[in-house]
Amino acid sequence: DWTMAAYRDEAIRLIREQVGDAKVICGLSGGVDSSVAAVLIHEAIGDQLTCVFVDHGLLREGEADEVVTMFRDHYNMPLIHADEQELFLGELEGVSDPETKRKTIGRLFIDVFQKHAAAVGGAKFLAQGTLYPDVIESVSFSGGPSVTIKSHHNVGGLPEKMGLKLVEPLRELFKDEVRALGHELGLPASFIGRHPFPGPGLAIRCPGEITREKLDILRKADAVYIDQIRKHGLYDEIWQAFVAILPVRTVGVMGDGRTYDFACALRAVTSVDGMTADYYPFSHEFLGETATRIINEVKGINRVTYDITSKPPGTIEWE
Ligand code: XMP
Repeated sequence: DWTMAAYRDEAIRLIREQVGDAKVICGLSGGVDSSVAAVLIHEAIGDQLTCVFVDHGLLREGEADEVVTMFRDHYNMPLIHADEQELFLGELEGVSDPETKRKTIGRLFIDVFQKHAAAVGGAKFLAQGTLYPDVIESVSFSGGPSVTIKSHHNVGGLPEKMGLKLVEPLRELFKDEVRALGHELGLPASFIGRHPFPGPGLAIRCPGEITREKLDILRKADAVYIDQIRKHGLYDEIWQAFVAILPVRTVGVMGDGRTYDFACALRAVTSVDGMTADYYPFSHEFLGETATRIINEVKGINRVTYDITSKPPGTIEWE
C-alpha cells in the first residue's frame, strides 16, 4: 500500500529529526499499538532504542513469554523484561476506585520507566503507542461535554519530574491505520490481529478490590473464553473480547454440595475504532457451551453472564 509506505518513510524521518542521537526507551505492552511503535522506531534509530516490557502482574495467561520471545528473539531488539508484580499489586492492595487504579498504575509505570531510562545510560525520550482515539477520549467524550471519562495512563504528557520527552509516532492514526502500518513493517498477521488490551490490564476487568486469587481465576476464565472464540473461528470478527470477574459470589450446586463462588461476565464487541461499539451476537449454543466449559474448568467461578451493553451508553471495559 503506497500510502502507508509513504507514511512510514515520513514517520521515520520525523523520529530521526526529533531524537537525534539520543537514547529512547519504549514502553512495550504487547498490544498492537506499542508493538508497531517499537518496530517503527527501531527501524528509524536501531539500537538507540531499548524497549521496556513491564509485567505488572495484570497480564493475561502466557502474555509475558509471548511478547518477550517475539521481540527479543525474533526482532533482536534490546529489551528489558521488568518483573514488577510485587510493586504494582502491593500498591493496588485495597484500591477499588477505577480512577485510583488507573492513576496508581500510571504513576508506577512512570517510576519504572524512569528507573530504566537511567539504567540504559540516560535515555532522553520515552516512546509510546498513543493513537488518535486515545488523545480524543482523554479530553472529551464524543458529542458530550468536555469531561474526562477515563484517564488513560498513557496520554496527557508526563510529570515534569520525569525529565523525559515523549515520542508518539502514531498520534494521528486510527487503529485500522496502525494495523496497516504494522503490516507494512512486516509484523506477523497474528500479532497485528490481536485484540486491543488496555495498559492497566486486568485491573480494570476486576471491578472492586484486586486480589491475586481473583486475578488467577480471571486469567483462567479468560483463556477458556478466548480459546472458545478461536475454535469457533470468531476471533477476527470481534474487536475485543474478555472476561470480567465480578465482585460478587453467588450460590450454585455442584454434585451433592453447594458452591459459593464468583460470578463473571463475558464481553465481546464489534467496533471500528473503539469509540463506539456493539455487543457481539453470539449464538445461544456458543454461549451455553462456553459457560459450561468455564464452570467446569475454572475453579472459583460458578456463574457466567453475557454483557449485551453497547457503547454508548456503556464503555467496552467494565471500569
Ligand atoms: P472503553 O472502555 O473506554 O475502551 O470503551 C475503549 C478502548 O480503550 C481501551 N482502554 C484503555 N487503554 N488504558 C489503555 O491503554 C486505559 O486506561 C484504557 N481504558 C480503556 C479499551 O480496552 C478499549 O479498547
